[in-house]
Amino acid sequence: MKVLVTGGAGFIGSHVVEALLEAGARVAVLDDLSTGRRENLWPGVNFHPLDVCRPEVAAVVEAERPDVVVHLAAQVSLPHSLTDPLGDARVNILGTVNVLEACRRQGVRRVVYASSAAVYGEPVHLPVTEDHPLVPLAGYGVSKYAGECYVRVYHHLWGLEYCILRYANVYGPRQGLAGEGGVVGVFAAALAAGRPIEIHGDGQQTRDFVYVKDAAAATVAAAFGSAQGVFNISTGRPTPVGELAALALALHGAPAAVHRGPPRPGDVRHSYLDPRRAACALGWVPRYSLEEGVAETLAWWKVRYETGARGSNF
Ligand SMILES: NC(=O)c1ccc[n+]([C@@H]2O[C@H](COP(=O)([O-])OP(=O)(O)OC[C@H]3O[C@@H](n4cnc5c(N)ncnc54)[C@H](O)[C@@H]3O)[C@@H](O)[C@H]2O)c1
Repeated sequence: MKVLVTGGAGFIGSHVVEALLEAGARVAVLDDLSTGRRENLWPGVNFHPLDVCRPEVAAVVEAERPDVVVHLAAQVSLPHSLTDPLGDARVNILGTVNVLEACRRQGVRRVVYASSAAVYGEPVHLPVTEDHPLVPLAGYGVSKYAGECYVRVYHHLWGLEYCILRYANVYGPRQGLAGEGGVVGVFAAALAAGRPIEIHGDGQQTRDFVYVKDAAAATVAAAFGSAQGVFNISTGRPTPVGELAALALALHGAPAAVHRGPPRPGDVRHSYLDPRRAACALGWVPRYSLEEGVAETLAWWKVRYETGARGSNF
């Protein structure tokens, strides 16, 4: 099977590419390297350095003739969507339409679209199931939801098979510090650099942290399978940020200061997503414990600091 991964030089994308290659797929990557990194590209993968909004996307899809497109390329920063809502909408909405239009023209069979827990907004019930009201609180959630709507339209009008994956807070090695779900990376980077870690608010706010290798396995299951629909990709477990900090400190094994900062305006208080639909339809369950995932993330940041390979996005 041939898969084109947009955003394949990014954090989740590079793990998805790795998992696809391990599963025996042939893989091509389209990425403009705006937050992705050349060093994240896997050998044996055709790389197309291109903005998803460019008309040349059609030529890439024509040349690669993928069976499946995994569309991960996006403007991923929620704060950026507040300061540059047009830029966010351009990449996340127009870029998605451009990719879908190329898929339609070239007869791509299936698309896997990376959506986000941000489409739900402030939860009105927990855990958040896929039929929870969609009331995003920022441009980012709106633009990811608009992408979902276009994916469904392309399914209904043109028969494009689809899987929409609403990732919770994905964390792990290779994550930049600017995007969503970055708190594990922020803590790990601080500990590796010998800086204090900072907790916003009382630390009782909860998130659903899903390890990136689990998120990648879910994405591969969605690409290879035939199930269609919208699926939460999450653990279903709420972890208080203060508890995460304590775990990171314990695994770090050396003393480190903890600073308390003010709560961040607009932050959702509690969020965790019910992953049972993905378990039933995709046969996917998360395999990594938070301890294992955080330990791997800490180890990765430690190596980056020790080798001085932090890079401009970190
Ligand atoms: N990390 C999370 O916790 C999380 C949670 C929910 C959803 N997501 C979604 O998962 C996807 C991947 O996010 P990530 O966390 O790996 O972030 P990332 O920034 O590491 O990956 C995004 C990739 O897209 C590329 N990209 C950005 N704009 C582009 C453009 N105009 N044209 C081509 N390529 C472009 C970047 O260079 C990067 O490689 C995104 O769609 C994001 O919305 C992530």
